[in-house]
Amino acid sequence: MKIGFIGAGNMASALIGGMLSAGTFKAEEISVSDKSEKALSVWREKGVCTFTDNIETVKCSDIIVFAVKPNIIPFVLDEIKDLTEYEDKIFISIAAGISIEFIENKLGACAKVVRTMPNTPAQVNCGMTVISPNKNITEDELKIVTKILESVGSTVVLDEKYMSVATALHGSSPAYIYMLIDAMADSGVNYGLTRDVALKLAAKAVEGSAKMVLETGIHPSQLKDNVCSPGGTTIAAVCDLEKSGFRASIQQAIDACVKKAEDMAK
Ligand SMILES: NC(=O)c1ccc[n+]([C@@H]2O[C@H](COP(=O)([O-])OP(=O)(O)OC[C@H]3O[C@@H](n4cnc5c(N)ncnc54)[C@H](OP(=O)(O)O)[C@@H]3O)[C@@H](O)[C@H]2O)c1
Repeated sequence: MKIGFIGAGNMASALIGGMLSAGTFKAEEISVSDKSEKALSVWREKGVCTFTDNIETVKCSDIIVFAVKPNIIPFVLDEIKDLTEYEDKIFISIAAGISIEFIENKLGACAKVVRTMPNTPAQVNCGMTVISPNKNITEDELKIVTKILESVGSTVVLDEKYMSVATALHGSSPAYIYMLIDAMADSGVNYGLTRDVALKLAAKAVEGSAKMVLETGIHPSQLKDNVCSPGGTTIAAVCDLEKSGFRASIQQAIDACVKKAEDMAK
């Protein structure tokens, strides 16, 4: 089985790097095409097949990942739509706001299409990818796609109608979490900590809290209650966060993200 990437940018690099380090594919089983020779040279040096022509990538791959910006997807689909050899190939799109229907309209109703939403922590093998297959993908093909994407983190299979909310919850949310870490670190620096130490304390608290939620299965409200001793420091901070609308502010941001994702899909 061979996999090809159209576009050699941030997400493609995260996925190819993760697949190579997990051993899901050998370098010679991976192809990548990009308009930029510079983006390709780093992969060529690692033994990956590189092309400046996207058609070559499609021809030599069983699974093709569309890893270009959403506004480039229509051009790529127009470029490859007349190839007759793609009937058995699987097309994975990672592009935000590009629907399965849009891809089927270009490649044909029989095309095997999987819409996904990964996130950038894939670069450190801690990604989260939501997967929505179209009706032409078999159970076995879905297992293959899932296994490939699990080489860079976790996966969840969801109906495509949830893609906008998934985008807000795991695709875009690393940005909100970075803002939280940065704000906490700024306060640490304000109280005299060095930037390195402040960032480490804040980021490790986020990492550890996420692990507590995922590994203990205890509801986050209960975990919060467990940290709040009566009249203590933590409950003072929690009450202050409630006063300043912390939870409402997060939920408003998620509403804005969902709306934007839905507008992009129109
Ligand atoms: N980054 C994220 O957090 C994230 C998360 C989830 C999903 N995504 C999705 O992932 C996709 C890729 O995002 P990215 O951040 O990896 O973008 P990126 O870094 O800009 O990578 C896209 C690459 O495609 C190249 N390219 C442009 N036109 C091309 C064409 N016609 N044929 C082949 N290659 C072409 C670009 O070259 P030039 O730079 O020279 O134009 C660039 O190297 C997007 O659709 C995005 O919605 C991204």
